[in-house]
Amino acid sequence: MRHLIDPTDLTVAETEQIVALAEDIIANRAKYSEACRGKKLATLFYEPSTRTRLSFTAAMLELGGQVIGFSDANSSSVSKGETVADTVRVIRCFADIIAMRHFKEGAPLVASQYAGIPVINAGDGSHAHPTQTLTDLLTIKREKGRFDNMTIGFCGDLKFGRTVHSLIKALSRYSNIKVILIAPQELRLPDYMLAEMAENSRLEFREVETMEEVMPELDILYMTRVQKERFLDEEEFDRVKNSFVLNPEKLKTAKEDMIILHPLPRVNEITRAVDNDPRAAYFRQVENGKFVRMALIYTLLRWADENRPFERTPVF
Ligand code: CP
Repeated sequence: MRHLIDPTDLTVAETEQIVALAEDIIANRAKYSEACRGKKLATLFYEPSTRTRLSFTAAMLELGGQVIGFSDANSSSVSKGETVADTVRVIRCFADIIAMRHFKEGAPLVASQYAGIPVINAGDGSHAHPTQTLTDLLTIKREKGRFDNMTIGFCGDLKFGRTVHSLIKALSRYSNIKVILIAPQELRLPDYMLAEMAENSRLEFREVETMEEVMPELDILYMTRVQKERFLDEEEFDRVKNSFVLNPEKLKTAKEDMIILHPLPRVNEITRAVDNDPRAAYFRQVENGKFVRMALIYTLLRWADENRPFERTPVF
């Protein structure tokens, strides 16, 4: 049984296959409208979400499938103490595939060990967010036309930013990728990730503390929100919450074809005035999320049904 818990659960070829399928879905929407008829997605969200949950829901509906689940764990038997393992053992009786977001790192991995149906990690604590990575990759493909030969600056909360952790892992598998980590000391990338990057001879990276000093080099600027909900110490959050604010003035030295990505939601790290800049790709990025999740749901269900093929004719 295949799951998606970490971006590297997919090979480079499989990742690119899903991105290519998403592009085909964008070009030929009607072709996929019955692709998951008769299938159910369970969205189990133990932590708040707007984009991820609703795009998973829209994705399954557009594939002709149905959606069940909860967006408030307190309305489920989780509030009575039910474990993730028991919850997914129950959900497998009602659904064919699960998308789970959890505040605890590793919870979707546990779910995958008990579910018996494909589990997709929709974000676990500060660990990983592989479907945001697929969204980012589709956006990079559509905006830049390639995954290699790029300088990408990750700016903001690199300590807790699971979208950053996952995208770095995915891009690390391509050649001539230069990563610039832009963060204050308190929000540096976790040591285990820095160690992994140092071991990757194909990857070049360095750490800086201001975006201004690297702006002219960047092909992609990946902004992130400082994640208040992950801080144990509110005073520390107050110290770093305004570390970076991207505004039109700071973009003056950026390349004309640089793109600005952000997984969203944003707080104050990108001013509204930047939204009108054609380089601001973050709302286009959101839209891509639905298509790549359609491609992923379809692919995982197809893999799960390998020995029990869909009754319908496969669409690819
Ligand atoms: N990018 C992202 O994960 O957004 P949500 O928290 O709204 O799902």
